[in-house]
Amino acid sequence: MTALITGATEGIGRAFARALAAEGRTVTAVARTERHLAALMTELGPGGPDGEHDYLVADLATPEGVRTVADALAAAPYELLINNAGLAAPGPFAETPLDQALPALRLNCEAVVTLAHAFLATAGPGAALINVASTLAFAPRPGQAVYSATKAFVASFSEALWYEQRPRGIYVMALCPGPTATRPGLHADTPAALVQPPEAVVATALAALRRRRRPTIVPGRANTLFAAATRILPRPTTLTLLATPR
Ligand SMILES: NC(=O)c1ccc[n+]([C@@H]2O[C@H](COP(=O)([O-])OP(=O)(O)OC[C@H]3O[C@@H](n4cnc5c(N)ncnc54)[C@H](OP(=O)(O)O)[C@@H]3O)[C@@H](O)[C@H]2O)c1
Repeated sequence: MTALITGATEGIGRAFARALAAEGRTVTAVARTERHLAALMTELGPGGPDGEHDYLVADLATPEGVRTVADALAAAPYELLINNAGLAAPGPFAETPLDQALPALRLNCEAVVTLAHAFLATAGPGAALINVASTLAFAPRPGQAVYSATKAFVASFSEALWYEQRPRGIYVMALCPGPTATRPGLHADTPAALVQPPEAVVATALAALRRRRRPTIVPGRANTLFAAATRILPRPTTLTLLATPR
């Protein structure tokens, strides 16, 4: 079984790479930093029955980088694509330079759409596509307007694909993690009980991948409660709560 993972050298992507390699899948890892990719290859070891683990150096916020990875997906059918690489553009929108927001749009949306299209062109029955969104897909956080909107896009896009691809036997998942401890200090202001390790996010995603049932997967009880609350609470209340530093 072959899997291509974007953003595979850190955080959730690296946890996916480790878990899939341990299951005997052959991993193609994508990121911008070659020495991190090379280190990951050393860590993952020799590969699975379908060949050696491999990597592609690509900046998925650029058309060239996206083309490199789309070409690889078109050249050899993969059984699993994980569109994981994502970028936040924090700060009040009007006061933040556009050149922070636009790369986030390109990486979080354009690259996801282009790679999904290339993957689905060659994927066969049994294949799967995981697009990593966020719980901010359910309600936007003021101060992360563009990032939240890109994740709502990813979740919506993935749900429609889940339905479209079912007759082909291809499973599509929107994975919606909440705060995840991918980098030291990233969620320093969030109560520790609300922050999941990336391995827990990946374990939930891979369990759901085995079941191949639901289009949207929210890992963790606190995140599931948050998603439910966003459907019940008045929107101004949700926005005020999300804007308040925790
Ligand atoms: N961490 C959280 O709390 C959290 C919560 C909800 C959702 N998510 C989502 O989960 C996904 C993974 O997040 P994470 O926190 O695990 O990420 P992370 O720790 O910041 O790792 C990012 C990975 O993506 C790669 N990357 C970054 N920019 C790239 C680009 N332009 N082109 C190609 N690769 C790029 C990085 O390697 P290079 O820098 O070498 O390129 C690295 O491998 C993202 O989509 C994020 O939005 C995260």
